[in-house]
Amino acid sequence: MRMPLFRGMKRWAMIISVVFLSSLLFASCGDNSPSILNPTGPVAGQEANLFWFTLVVATIVFVAVEGWLIFSIVRFRERPNTPQPKQIQGNNTVEIIWTVLPSLFLFAVLAGTIYTMFGLQNVTGSGRLEVKAVGHQWWWEFDYPSLGNITTADTLYIPQGTVIQTDLVSNNVIHSFWVPSITGKTDVIPGHNNTKVFRADTLGEFRGECAEYCGTQHANMNFSVVVLTQAEFNVWASGQQQAALSSTDTLAQQGQKIFKSTGGCTACHGIVGVNLTSYTDPKAAGLVGPNLTHFGSRHLIAGGVLEFGRPGDTSCDIVNGQVKDPAKCGIYQWLLDTQKYKPGNDMVITVTPTQINALVAYLESLK
Ligand code: CUA
Repeated sequence: MRMPLFRGMKRWAMIISVVFLSSLLFASCGDNSPSILNPTGPVAGQEANLFWFTLVVATIVFVAVEGWLIFSIVRFRERPNTPQPKQIQGNNTVEIIWTVLPSLFLFAVLAGTIYTMFGLQNVTGSGRLEVKAVGHQWWWEFDYPSLGNITTADTLYIPQGTVIQTDLVSNNVIHSFWVPSITGKTDVIPGHNNTKVFRADTLGEFRGECAEYCGTQHANMNFSVVVLTQAEFNVWASGQQQAALSSTDTLAQQGQKIFKSTGGCTACHGIVGVNLTSYTDPKAAGLVGPNLTHFGSRHLIAGGVLEFGRPGDTSCDIVNGQVKDPAKCGIYQWLLDTQKYKPGNDMVITVTPTQINALVAYLESLK
């Protein structure tokens, strides 16, 4: 009569192994997936520590409870002619043990959480920089109030080792600011400005995302955090503070004309030196699209749905007055059909391929 139990266990062992192996397999998918377990700053580091602590506590509980359960199932299973087992209902000792023991574990997790919460308030660094992250549907705007109000989109540039005080602002729905390897999630709530303080210790580019459902394109509300040395950051910031350069290239100049034409791009987008006098131009507040003053220095479009201009990517280069590889050029594809790549977004334009070539030339010149 013992056979079915062991045959059942064998099958479960098989199922568990398959699940375990396939999870390992899927874990290797997509090297663009950021992980909270690769922290590159003190905030994500403390949060990762709390995760490991909770995991250890939970594992102890899981192994003890499931081990006891499996032991009891095997050891005390019904055999032919076994008498009714001894009943322990109302046993005070047992009831006290299984009330006190779980409470101890839960208090341990609570203590770890509170300890981490206080730790997250005390981030120190070589300086302090205030930035404003504005959640739009569906892209991120980044402003630098202390640096002449530089306004950019999709990519947050920060200096390494500096405490970044991020004011989280939304005038539409609730979003959530999250850079898994640098800092945990904080909600971006209309009418209630939250602040996230963090520091990034490793140079490089890190993926951020919106972590709160905010509409159909929530999943396409990504951004990059680029961590630079202080010197590199200063160069970047002083470049961004300038008005847009006027290109001498004929095609780019045609592109600028299209940009400025009535009912065109300027209804939503601003370029300092073209349709805005400065980043603080009052007109800027009425523009719903990203500020494009230094668009050519960025790589992400529309919350990261498309990319362009990465080192080595020549697909958007202009050859004989045309984009070299339109199918691979992110800006070209975006201007050709914004709704194909991000259905429901606010940008609706109709431009001919000839106009797109000129616009790409112009936008790329905005370094
Ligand atoms: Cu913004 Cu989800």
